[in-house]
Amino acid sequence: MKEPTDIGMNRTGIGTSPIDSKELIEAAEATVPSSEGDESGIASLRISYTSESGIVGTMPPPSSVKGAVKSVLEGLTAKNPAVFLDKLAERLQFERTGTRMYESVLAKFDALGGYDGGPTREALLEFHDEELRHFHVLRSALESMGADPTALTPSADIAAVEASGLLQVLNDPRTTLPQTLHAILVAELADSEGWDMLIELATNLGHEAMADDFRDAMRAEEKHLAHVRQWVANHAMQDAEGRMEQAA
Ligand SMILES: [Fe+2]
Ligand SMILES: [Fe+2]
Repeated sequence: MKEPTDIGMNRTGIGTSPIDSKELIEAAEATVPSSEGDESGIASLRISYTSESGIVGTMPPPSSVKGAVKSVLEGLTAKNPAVFLDKLAERLQFERTGTRMYESVLAKFDALGGYDGGPTREALLEFHDEELRHFHVLRSALESMGADPTALTPSADIAAVEASGLLQVLNDPRTTLPQTLHAILVAELADSEGWDMLIELATNLGHEAMADDFRDAMRAEEKHLAHVRQWVANHAMQDAEGRMEQAA
């Protein structure tokens, strides 16, 4: 099978056809613009849409009496529990998607095999299981606060949309293992940031036991990030060196 860095029939660049590209550039230069338009038109349209549109969802009401009482009590101390719940739900959705992402990588590994300096199946499975464990940590945290862990909160919604491009790469049957690992690298970078902030929030809001659980998760995430980064870099280096050997 061809490797993505093999030379193929890619004709996306203008240099593929010097005659046509010359004509294209000449025609573009000779064409009088149909309007004096610039980027200000799209900018004002965006501004008008943004000012007219609503927001991406709101928080659900507490799903239990315990949650309602907690909301009132924390409300009295001027802490908005909804902010913390929103961020917990965001991490929960991310860890759930992270679990699915590693499932995709495992399928890619099983279909195409690994490479020198790349992940073992065991390592991918371990990271998958840790993402799932983190999902359960967050489920428990939300339940302990009387919140419904199945609710999609605004930040969870946004995080899901953000991850949708990564899922497209992961689930495309044409992508290679290193290409999917690059998508995982983006996810792990965001994941580490997310846990970092959640630990800070939990600590500042006095949820010490939760913060301890989250620090455990953070340690696993730091391990994920370090390994995935190395796997991606190893592949790029080997690929480049392999090509250099071929060229020599
Ligand atoms: Fe994670
Ligand atoms: Fe992770």
